Amino acid sequence: MSEFRFTDYYNNQVTYSLSDQPFSKAPKHVWVICCYEGEWLLTEHSRRGIEFPGGKVEEGETAENAAVREVFEETGGVVNDLQFIGQYRVEGKGGTIIKNVYYAVIEELIAKADYLETKGPVLLKQLPENLQVNERYSFMMKDKVLSYSLQHLKKVK
Ligand code: GTP
Repeated sequence: MSEFRFTDYYNNQVTYSLSDQPFSKAPKHVWVICCYEGEWLLTEHSRRGIEFPGGKVEEGETAENAAVREVFEETGGVVNDLQFIGQYRVEGKGGTIIKNVYYAVIEELIAKADYLETKGPVLLKQLPENLQVNERYSFMMKDKVLSYSLQHLKKVK
């Protein structure tokens, strides 16, 4: 049972688990590490900067549905295969949020006129080495959720 505790960019306490949804079976947030033709597929959020796509689960939607929808809305990517990686809980000043992390293989990237609150897709052969201090990248990319997820993917892929 792998569970990790650390603080995030804003000093909030994060608990990340690689078991099956230990904190909530109906989480309200999702985050999706996407891969398209051997490259990472991210999005550029207008406020937060570059990050893997994700967002809130809507009323009547499953977390998996939300993951597929958010990837398409924010990048134009069509999810072919979606795998659960883990779930994390952030204890913030304004309350607690619980988020599922997935890995998605993207089969097609459709160009769109509108990517909602993002500027659309960003394809990267490699994630930058200086991610933690790179101002172009979102705070979500800067805590250990990403590194533990990538480590896990390396082991299972
Ligand atoms: P919008 O409605 O999209 O503007 O989001 P919001 O910032 O009002 O609310 P949300 O519920 O998405 O997040 C609330 C707070 O939780 C954020 O300000 C962050 O501090 C924290 N948070 C949300 N997502 C993450 C995440 O993926 N990682 C970490 N570490 N904190 C997060």
